Amino acid sequence: MRAMICNAWGGLDTLHLSDHPAPEPGAGQVLLRVIAAAVNYADILMVRGEYQTRPAFPFAPGLEAVGEVIECGEGVSEFSPGQRVMAFLNHGGFAEQALADKADCFAVPDEMSDDIAAGFLIGYVSSDTAIRWQGRLEDGETMLVLGAAGGVGLTAVEIGKAMGARVIAAASSAEKLALAGAHGADGLINYTSENLKVRVLELTDGEGADVCFDPVGGDLFDAALSSLGWGGRFLHVGFVGGIPQVPANRLLVKHRASLGSSLRYFRHHRPDQLRTSVNELLRLWRTGLLKPEISAVYPLSEAVQAMDAIESRRAVGKVVVQI
Ligand SMILES: NC(=O)c1ccc[n+]([C@@H]2O[C@H](COP(=O)([O-])OP(=O)(O)OC[C@H]3O[C@@H](n4cnc5c(N)ncnc54)[C@H](OP(=O)(O)O)[C@@H]3O)[C@@H](O)[C@H]2O)c1
Repeated sequence: MRAMICNAWGGLDTLHLSDHPAPEPGAGQVLLRVIAAAVNYADILMVRGEYQTRPAFPFAPGLEAVGEVIECGEGVSEFSPGQRVMAFLNHGGFAEQALADKADCFAVPDEMSDDIAAGFLIGYVSSDTAIRWQGRLEDGETMLVLGAAGGVGLTAVEIGKAMGARVIAAASSAEKLALAGAHGADGLINYTSENLKVRVLELTDGEGADVCFDPVGGDLFDAALSSLGWGGRFLHVGFVGGIPQVPANRLLVKHRASLGSSLRYFRHHRPDQLRTSVNELLRLWRTGLLKPEISAVYPLSEAVQAMDAIESRRAVGKVVVQI
């Protein structure tokens, strides 16, 4: 099969399109003919060797995909050949065939397009598990979302609105904020030209936000923490800007909580809650409350360009690679 192969840790220029033996499904696994896969920031970290897992060489990156079932391994009765499923992958989406664990596969609604299905799971489910199960966001609360036009950020904006919250979107440009506004954000803050803390306090009548959804970290963390009100919950979702150190004294005095949320480990520890999240997200999508944003589509031969759009901070929403 053709695959975008990584043979050494490094930048995206280490990737190359080549022929690679097709994988075989083991017990509990499903072999997919990949139709399309979506790019995530974590793919870039994986190629650099900086992700939580480091697959053995050679491997193809790609953590989520939609595909048609080719073959099911021993003990898989939930799916059958020819069925269209979307799946979380350990890696391997940027290839003609990929393996997924059966617990990580979900039937795709007939009315959902391949491009949407390719990038539905990681963005929406990461945000939902963070916001619903860790943040315990309530109707009427205010949630601040950083990197609000990115892959997970934009889904957090929509999920916050669907849960009845007031959402303040923060991003680095007017174009990105306009997109977050079009997806429902009530307040907009440009953190490259405005003071994040001051603006959040203005937009919340001095109370601060109840929840902060943060896939960025780095230099934004300090102001974002200060903009959380009494009892606020800070959701650490990603660190594209760097890993912040959490000052416990600033949690204590305002009864704030600092909460981590990792989809990868949630999948293994809470499979029932994961299914609840996926089912609820598909219900919201059917009602039109979720509007997946696919900003660009590339062929497999240009998967590196697709990943570069994310790495260089140019992309919004999801970028898809059609196989
Ligand atoms: N915890 C989990 O379960 C989970 C799940 C999925 C993803 N993540 C993590 O969440 C983060 C975002 O992932 P994603 O796939 O949504 O990425 P993405 O689509 O690239 O979005 C990241 C956003 O971060 C902002 N940003 C700030 N500084 C940046 C920089 N130096 N380089 C690139 N972007 C920068 C950008 O928005 P502005 O230009 O507006 O600042 C961008 O839109 C990653 O760290 C990823 O590993 C975690």
